[in-house]
Amino acid sequence: MNVRFLAFLCVLSVPGAFAQQPLAIPPALDEDTFLLNVGQHVHQFYPGVNTTTLGVNGDYLGPTLIFHRGDTARLRVHNGLDQVTTMHWHGMHVSGDEDGGPQNMIASGTDWHVKYEVVNPAGTYWYHPHPHMLTASQATRGISGMIIVQDEEGSALDLPRTYGVDDIPVVLQDRRFLASGEFVVGPYGDSVLVNGTPHPYIDLPAQVIRLRLLNGSNSRVYRIGLQDGSTFNMIAGDGGLLNVPVPLERLDLSNGERAELLLDLSGMEGDSLLLMSYGSELPVTVPGSANILWETSALNGIDFPLLRIRVQAPTADPVTSIPAALGSATPIPETEADRTRVKTITGTGMVGMGMFMINGTMFNINVVNDTVNLDATEIWTFVNNSNMAHPMHIHGVSFFVLDRNGVAPPPEEAGAKDVVLVHTGETVRTIMRFEHLSNGYPFMYHCHNLMHEDNMMMLQFIVVDPMVGLLEGHDGVPVWVYPNPVTSTLGFRSSFPVRTVEVRDNIGRLVYSGNLGLAQNGSIDFGKLPAGLYPVTLRNGEQVARTIVVRE
Ligand code: C2O
Ligand code: CU
Ligand code: CU
Repeated sequence: MNVRFLAFLCVLSVPGAFAQQPLAIPPALDEDTFLLNVGQHVHQFYPGVNTTTLGVNGDYLGPTLIFHRGDTARLRVHNGLDQVTTMHWHGMHVSGDEDGGPQNMIASGTDWHVKYEVVNPAGTYWYHPHPHMLTASQATRGISGMIIVQDEEGSALDLPRTYGVDDIPVVLQDRRFLASGEFVVGPYGDSVLVNGTPHPYIDLPAQVIRLRLLNGSNSRVYRIGLQDGSTFNMIAGDGGLLNVPVPLERLDLSNGERAELLLDLSGMEGDSLLLMSYGSELPVTVPGSANILWETSALNGIDFPLLRIRVQAPTADPVTSIPAALGSATPIPETEADRTRVKTITGTGMVGMGMFMINGTMFNINVVNDTVNLDATEIWTFVNNSNMAHPMHIHGVSFFVLDRNGVAPPPEEAGAKDVVLVHTGETVRTIMRFEHLSNGYPFMYHCHNLMHEDNMMMLQFIVVDPMVGLLEGHDGVPVWVYPNPVTSTLGFRSSFPVRTVEVRDNIGRLVYSGNLGLAQNGSIDFGKLPAGLYPVTLRNGEQVARTIVVRE
């Protein structure tokens, strides 16, 4: 089925690979307009070994973007690859046309300009490509980066916030290398890279420090802990601050999930500490465990180090205690739900080669699987009847976990999230409010095991305003089309007189064109067209409005 998994015969074994290297800290950008240059590079993860990589403004990974809640984030993404890409703002509450899903394609050599108001609370988010069937390939080779949102509530707290000094990005990825040095795109790696650094160490001051963890691995789940068994405090999850710090000895971090941890290193100058993953403790149904029926990796089922922390002298203005109270997010009460959707996961297979389905279907870029009303509050229930755990992710929103098998979630899952690991045999109920329109570009929901995602364990939904049909107008020109999705006659209303109307199918063939002679409303017959997504263009000379109509 997928030949790339046959290429494991020759794997790089690097003498001296255990030499410790200082942890790379991606540059932090805080700009009015972020310029993100996606391109191909060559990078040496191990001295003398060249690996072809993809990066954003550099060899591997991209800069950390600092966003301010309430501001407008403006981004220009340049695709310097020889293939299509997209850029998705994972966890950000944006409209579909800003979200960077598989439909927001950036052709090779072109730019994508996008801007949106930052409405997310202070927290750790991230960006990564999302092109149809190419996500794992592009992400494995290095396209992704962190987003840090700052806001007044977060900044009022006495928390470590000096980037690279006491506030550290920690992007966890496992990677497999061929003997030639090239990456293998597959579920597992045999080396852990943290921010792209193998065998990393970092010097940190003897005071309270913050680690922003992101699981950027394709399939591996990490069970985080400290080697000496001491506790750490989790202060934020995927979607911002928890209300109180949660002391933990272990934390499971599945693909796409983030966690902000505070470590109190006070008085430990000269000491060192090892951040570990306890793979030996993972249930056999979780990728990264020692399940012998699945693909193997030297790291599966064992405990291995992620990051060595060497404690140095404190800074001049250290944070010395952990605040007792943090955020103020209130979970959405179940009584506010307008409806429930059940998403049942089925399938059996291996971590990278499985065929897994959601409600018996797989991704079809021409099919919209769910239509959600703007501002609706919904419960989405994930039922996992398959043979492994899947990290389920929903675009454009944050959700709260209501319960796992009827039991309230543990305190580390009490905050806003956008990925939830759904274990085998488990029913997980989540609740969220859909406050952003899809604007012609459907939102995705999918398994964040990138091998599963690329293998179609992904469906799409649109968010429509039931009162006005679908409000569109990508070039700033409003046009209303209704109903959308449509089964027969599509009505439209435009703010400018329309001369011509054009309907294309999703591969660009003209399926309808008409001359309207400057009408501001009219209708188009979709009754004879097959189900699918149809870009519709209304034009009057320079005035152009485009939208995507869903034929159900
Ligand atoms: Cu990390 Cu579809 O996203
Ligand atoms: Cu996402
Ligand atoms: Cu999956």
